[in-house]
Amino acid sequence: MNTSKPEHNFCIIGCGRLGISLAVFLSGRGFKPISFCSRGPDSAKHAAAMAGTGIVYEDPVKAAAACDLVFITTPDTRIGPVCEKIAKGGGFTKDSVVFHLSGALSSDVLGAAQKVGAATGSIHPLQSFAPYEKGQASPFLGINISLEGEVRAVTLGRKIVDVLGAGSFTIPTQAKTLYHAAAVVASNYLVTLEHFALSLLKETGLAEGEAYTILEPLIQGTLSNIKARGSINALTGPVARGDDGIIASHLEDIDRKMPQFSCLYRLLGAHTLEIAKLRGDLDPKVQEKLALLFKNTGV
Ligand SMILES: NC(=O)c1ccc[n+]([C@@H]2O[C@H](COP(=O)([O-])OP(=O)(O)OC[C@H]3O[C@@H](n4cnc5c(N)ncnc54)[C@H](OP(=O)(O)O)[C@@H]3O)[C@@H](O)[C@H]2O)c1
Repeated sequence: MNTSKPEHNFCIIGCGRLGISLAVFLSGRGFKPISFCSRGPDSAKHAAAMAGTGIVYEDPVKAAAACDLVFITTPDTRIGPVCEKIAKGGGFTKDSVVFHLSGALSSDVLGAAQKVGAATGSIHPLQSFAPYEKGQASPFLGINISLEGEVRAVTLGRKIVDVLGAGSFTIPTQAKTLYHAAAVVASNYLVTLEHFALSLLKETGLAEGEAYTILEPLIQGTLSNIKARGSINALTGPVARGDDGIIASHLEDIDRKMPQFSCLYRLLGAHTLEIAKLRGDLDPKVQEKLALLFKNTGV
């Protein structure tokens, strides 16, 4: 198959981390960047230079009008206003397919493009992107990317994701917020959780780097167990075993030495107890004792 023949000309509005990476890694694989536009000309010129092709426009209406496929890769708060400006200026037609890459917003924010008959969608890569560096490996390879929006947009979106070497899945438009909350919990709140564990270890006298090295096999093993057995069956430890004495001793020490974590430990414990209950093998009396320990406010 000859993948170098361009089938889709595209435009990037917002030439930052995602915009440049998209332009570089779609280019020459059946997609061709034709036009770039950003808040200022410098980042648009840089994007065109990195992609090795494309014209820089100051006016997003003209940039969008040059292509049927438009990616609005501005910060989330600018997506709606930029889309509106292009739609008002006549930059979209009924043949246009318009995407944004926000995880938190749905394609509804591209309503102005929908009104003129363009197909709209969102493509969200579940990955954290650093600024593009020339010659770097593709940050899209092997990641998962969600697609949401109108059928025509989602169909083209699958092709885009495929070309990027990523996996795609679709989510309903109304589920976009919960989907994004899941991504925040899985990534950001995992950091919060590990920060908590590292802080406890630091209190024992271990240096932070050493503390992470010690915990890492346990963290990786837990992730492997979740993958192999699911989140309910992966649960081990004192809550799953119903050992209220150990939990009471944890709380005593945390309340005394690190009270800033008292509420968090209790909240996580209460939710962990709910998972343990789902396993169905926890004595109801022990459940009550644990529930009471997690309910008490501590110091
Ligand atoms: N970075 C990530 O890890 C990541 C991951 C998944 C999804 N996303 C999503 O990808 C999108 C872009 O994020 P990013 O990280 O690439 O942002 P970024 O690096 O901050 O880049 C945003 C770009 O948009 C340009 N811009 C700002 N206002 C504009 C306007 N009114 N008109 C035209 N261009 C404008 C900026 O121009 P100047 O350079 O001229 O200032 C900048 O180049 C967001 O929707 C974000 O939620 C990001």
